[in-house]
Amino acid sequence: MDRLLPQSAVARLALVFALVAILGLAGVLFWQVRHLGGSAESLAVAGGGAVQIGGPFELVDQDGKTVTQADFAGRYLLVYFGYTYCPDVCPTELAAMSQALDILEERDAAAAAEVTPIFITVDPERDTVAAMADYATHFHPRLRALTGSPQQVAEAARAYRIFYQKTEDPSASDYLMDHSSFVYLMGPDGQYVSHFTFGTEPEKMAETLQRRISGS
Ligand code: NI
Repeated sequence: MDRLLPQSAVARLALVFALVAILGLAGVLFWQVRHLGGSAESLAVAGGGAVQIGGPFELVDQDGKTVTQADFAGRYLLVYFGYTYCPDVCPTELAAMSQALDILEERDAAAAAEVTPIFITVDPERDTVAAMADYATHFHPRLRALTGSPQQVAEAARAYRIFYQKTEDPSASDYLMDHSSFVYLMGPDGQYVSHFTFGTEPEKMAETLQRRISGS
């Protein structure tokens, strides 16, 4: 048995490092699959060309009021799809959106006032109006947290090219969702302007927003 393992301390250390590296890589890959941030490049292409992102939807906000895309006409939108039970990526991303708007408000209040942050659930079964109202309090005060029937959510997600599905783990007492995790910037005309991938610094988001809105 001894012969199968490296003999020197250095070799053993190298083996340990290699294992840690492999596990780390596997973890990153798993995480990317779980939140599907990896296909951003194809979206960037799609946004500039043939594939339409955004479109009509009808959902319900955290006050129980029905909203459609028409309610946001003339405004810049930061649109993020996720779910309130998400353990990591969604709260991080919504916090980044909120911080970006805070930064922009300090720098250029007029530009910030033109932006509405929107969170749309991909888990309408659990994300009731009340659940969304509670969750929204953790983020930007102007955040609109939208839910709806499973069909309404599916239609909104289809319009924004968002993939989502329950993870298949029958042993889990509660389910997780796989879902795309882009923050879309939509223009006042309802057209796609840009998007931010997971991990974009709030500072960078704020800069892009300011440039797009004020041209400065
Ligand atoms: Ni998530």
